[in-house]
Amino acid sequence: MSTLTLMPAGLTLEVAAGASLLQAILDAGGKLVNPCGGGAKCGGCHVFVTAGRKGLTRVTPAENAKLDTLVGIGSKSRLACQAQFTGTEDVTVELLGALSG
Ligand code: FES
Repeated sequence: MSTLTLMPAGLTLEVAAGASLLQAILDAGGKLVNPCGGGAKCGGCHVFVTAGRKGLTRVTPAENAKLDTLVGIGSKSRLACQAQFTGTEDVTVELLGALSG
């Protein structure tokens, strides 16, 4: 199990290894749009992982390709729909802009 913390709201949730980061964010009460349904096609689930990157699976080629098309990405960017918990570290995620409250 890992603890997911959503910032800036400070919401937390205990998450099992193998669980989707996108689903965990939604379960924790985070607001995140996912119009493509988790296919790494829309970029709506872009978040910053500010701590515990090793607590998530590695970036896939499809995720990397989509991230390259988005504005405002950085070294901490992930598509939540493409990341699963590994159970090895707690994870802190920063939700972006209007979706952060
Ligand atoms: S939900 Fe569309 S890219 Fe993640």
